[in-house]
Amino acid sequence: MINVKILTGYPEMFPGGLAHSVIGKALKEHLFKLEIINLHDFGIDNRKSVDDEPFGGGPGMILRPDVVEKALLSASNNQNLNSTKIYLTPSGTLLNQEKLGIFAKLDEIIILCGRFEGVDQRAIDVLDFEEVSIGDYVLAGGEIAAQVLLEGCIRLIPGVLGHPKSLLEETFSNNLLEYPQYTRPKVWEDSLGNKHDVPEVLTSGHHENIKKWRLDKSTEKTKKIRQDLYIKKEQKQD
Ligand code: 6GU
Repeated sequence: MINVKILTGYPEMFPGGLAHSVIGKALKEHLFKLEIINLHDFGIDNRKSVDDEPFGGGPGMILRPDVVEKALLSASNNQNLNSTKIYLTPSGTLLNQEKLGIFAKLDEIIILCGRFEGVDQRAIDVLDFEEVSIGDYVLAGGEIAAQVLLEGCIRLIPGVLGHPKSLLEETFSNNLLEYPQYTRPKVWEDSLGNKHDVPEVLTSGHHENIKKWRLDKSTEKTKKIRQDLYIKKEQKQD
């Protein structure tokens, strides 16, 4: 079971999406545990502040290192676990499928969600947080990013997915995007009266041809819209 501990100023944003679908089921079945730590419970002085102005000037507020440490100490009491500490920030290293696979094998994941302009760098360095970003765009805070990371990670825990597709076949594990899928009706008549059939090979029952068609479609699409992945795939084959 993975023990997930979230340090956040917005505890009401959890479990959020993690309470639904296969991840929600995994949560109910104790395949992972979610502990939410409210940063505001560790605020400083009378005003219980968790953030302050940046030294050197600039906009926004910075999360205080002493607040982060106090929240962290309240969370991590099992030192010997196979554990990691992640600070979610657009300035981190990019998350990918390989990293999700590594996180999914841990016993404990501690996630610090940033809001404000950021977190005091001393907290990140001294308390040993790995800075992780979920993509090259900016969100208002790390809470949704944390749910993205956890959803991607928890679905990899054995037993979470009902019908686990071969993980080897999945997008990104082989640097190929997935092939297009079709279902009933075989001929779909849209609201304008136009008829659209499904590719014939898929209803042929010829498994070898279907396999080849799917691989061709995957390769074609990857080459067209994700040259970065296509190049990686080509390099792996050499
Ligand atoms: Cl982890 N946080 C925020 N605030 N924005 C992001 C992000 C994280 N990853 C990409 N954009």
